[in-house]
Amino acid sequence: MFFVNSSILLLSLLIIGSCVPLKANKGALRFEVREIGISKVEENIPIEASFKSINKHFIEKSCLDCHNNNSPRLSFEGKQNLIDNADDILFYAEFGCDLGNCMPPVDRSGNPVKPIPTQEILKSLSDWVENDFEDIEKELEKDSEIDI
Ligand code: HEC
Repeated sequence: MFFVNSSILLLSLLIIGSCVPLKANKGALRFEVREIGISKVEENIPIEASFKSINKHFIEKSCLDCHNNNSPRLSFEGKQNLIDNADDILFYAEFGCDLGNCMPPVDRSGNPVKPIPTQEILKSLSDWVENDFEDIEKELEKDSEIDI
């Protein structure tokens, strides 16, 4: 009994510990990618609402393997294609699974084949759309943890 209780306590401490930001004075809260049992928590990176940042953190990671200029599907390669398809990208990323067409797709076991964009990443894209595709640059502090 003691053994069971102490392992639960230890497990809770590990879980709580993994949520505490390592550098509390650094501003933006940042979660590290960690293996927790079988599930993997996606890294939550504050990104800019700019073409460069969205392309790097979202499109290249999650979509470009299948949606490029050499694929038979819509291409999201390059700025103009991203602009032309931004509404569809947002729609499928958010509601694709509800329509039975998850984007990124899932394998037979139901695991996404590419990283699912976080809400923050999706918001960067919708902010960029609303700003008429003008980049919104973040003020960068020296030493900042923002990964453009
Ligand atoms: C593993 C390959 C793969 C990845 C990665 C992928 N897609 Fe797709 N996507 C497809 C396929 C295949 C279709 C066609 C599905 C169909 O017609 O049933 C499709 C269809 C779509 C469509 C409908 C238009 C079209 O070309 O048929 C949109 C929009 C879309 N994907 C968005 C995305 C977005 C956004 C991402 C990244 C978050 C993404 N996809 C990642 C394979 C992929």
